[in-house]
Amino acid sequence: MDVHAHELIVVGGGLAGTRAVDEAALRGVDVGWISKIYPIRSHSGEAQGGINAALCNHPDGKDDSAERHAYDTTKGGDFLGDQDAIQIMTNQAPITVREMEHWGVPFSRFADGTIAQRPFGGAGFPRTCYGADRTGHFLLHATYQKYLTMRERVHLYDEYYAIGLITEDNTCHGIITFNLHTGNLEAFVSHAVIFATGGSGRNYGRTTNSYSSTGLGVTMPYWAGVPIKDMEFVQFHPTAIIGKHILMTEGARGEGAYLLNSEGERFMKRYAPNSMEIAPRDIVARAIETELREGRGINGEKYVHLDVRHLGKKKIDERLPGIKAICEDFLGIDPITKPVPIRPAQHYTMGGIDCDTTCKTEVNGFYACGECACVSVHGANRLGGNSLLETLVFGEIAGRNAALAVKGKGKPTDHSLVKEALRKKEAELDELYNRGGTENPYEIRDELHAIMDNEVQIFRNKEDLEKALKGIRDLEKRFHNIRSISKGKVYNYDKTWTLEIKANLDISEVITLGALVREESRGGHARTDFPTRDDEKWLKHTIARFTEDGPELSYKPVTITKWQPEERKY
Ligand code: FUM
Repeated sequence: MDVHAHELIVVGGGLAGTRAVDEAALRGVDVGWISKIYPIRSHSGEAQGGINAALCNHPDGKDDSAERHAYDTTKGGDFLGDQDAIQIMTNQAPITVREMEHWGVPFSRFADGTIAQRPFGGAGFPRTCYGADRTGHFLLHATYQKYLTMRERVHLYDEYYAIGLITEDNTCHGIITFNLHTGNLEAFVSHAVIFATGGSGRNYGRTTNSYSSTGLGVTMPYWAGVPIKDMEFVQFHPTAIIGKHILMTEGARGEGAYLLNSEGERFMKRYAPNSMEIAPRDIVARAIETELREGRGINGEKYVHLDVRHLGKKKIDERLPGIKAICEDFLGIDPITKPVPIRPAQHYTMGGIDCDTTCKTEVNGFYACGECACVSVHGANRLGGNSLLETLVFGEIAGRNAALAVKGKGKPTDHSLVKEALRKKEAELDELYNRGGTENPYEIRDELHAIMDNEVQIFRNKEDLEKALKGIRDLEKRFHNIRSISKGKVYNYDKTWTLEIKANLDISEVITLGALVREESRGGHARTDFPTRDDEKWLKHTIARFTEDGPELSYKPVTITKWQPEERKY
């Protein structure tokens, strides 16, 4: 039996995980780093448009400030974000961006050499710093390169799937993993564990998320008794190319792109007359869906146009080369000469593992950061450019706090919990993989995607959500009758995907139940039968706990330090 011991375990190879690893290693801690894919292939590398910080470099941004950034984030999140957490993030933002500059990120520059900034949705000033439209890629590589300089303190276990926590007496002592190379289960023991496993976008079919963003990293702690928060708040990005759902960055609209309906009209003037195309995402996504519902899709189809032609070749080549390449490769069109057909697609999970501003969860020694976590800084709707920021700020905080808690303790020598934890996990997987039924798990997954895409989407209502909940619960029953899966040991993705489908079902149930019970509209959660925000009843976070009979919901207050809820006008 393989048992690995480290002072600290970090799970997740994206930006939050990499930053947490860097921080802990810089502080001299011995880190075991688990990633199911090679870190630099993580979904963070797909982030295009930029990272927000009130640097005041833009000529129109001289009056910007961390406080103004915090206010915009609070209002953008429809007042559900915790304002203490938001201020931690926005105060740290300029320091974080400059740190990344020093770590080697090739940010785009203004003529005076300062880091370039562009306007983004819901921001009072142009404050999104960017590296063309490949910002996530650059940040991920810079933080990964930092890790490379500290390899003597960090052991990277890539292509290892974390599949369960080892807990006792409300304390986390490590994790169980599935080693893809061998097909064996291996245990990791540590004094603390940080989860930075990314979002849950793959509960939907129409999503901009990578195939790796399945939400297993949220479900694992949920199954182990850690509460998860605000899962009904799902972000739909306004502009994904049709059919493929690949992101067309908000940076395009920040640079001046138009959204046009079948009548050639810049329809945003009817929804957000001041901000137009750079209103917050929830508002723009609803506007597009309304145009489609009212029959103003291009050629009567379910898409509108994102038009960058007037920006000109030079600007597009310089600032938006990535989306140009995507349009050419996936649609066969050149956006310099043709408008791009787009429709909103699932993009971001505002909810996640419930944690506080120090990234601690309810379980001792278990921390979370990045998209899998809900601190909460995004509230009911995240502003574009704040997710890369969150990963770095809270990756650093998680790494620092976990490092302070474990430093000097040495590798844990007590492995007494491992045997039983492995035995239980083996028995559980044995049962899962040998059900010998008739159902194909991938068909169940496809049916789940259809339910989430159609019934738990941008516009929601009681009837659809009840239908979805019933549909998900029926799929859960059918999942008990799945066929036995392939027995190969080496790189058997049938095993990991089957487990991820089980996770998708449980997380989708939490999303849908939370959405059904929340009888109001707030940020990304738009109920046609309850079209207004109801602060009296619903200015609170949803907490979901796992029970064998389905999620148990409760609520907890939102932290308001400065800004009382007000009407959102853009
Ligand atoms: O549109 C984008 O480039 C995405 C940015 C984000 O999700 O923050």
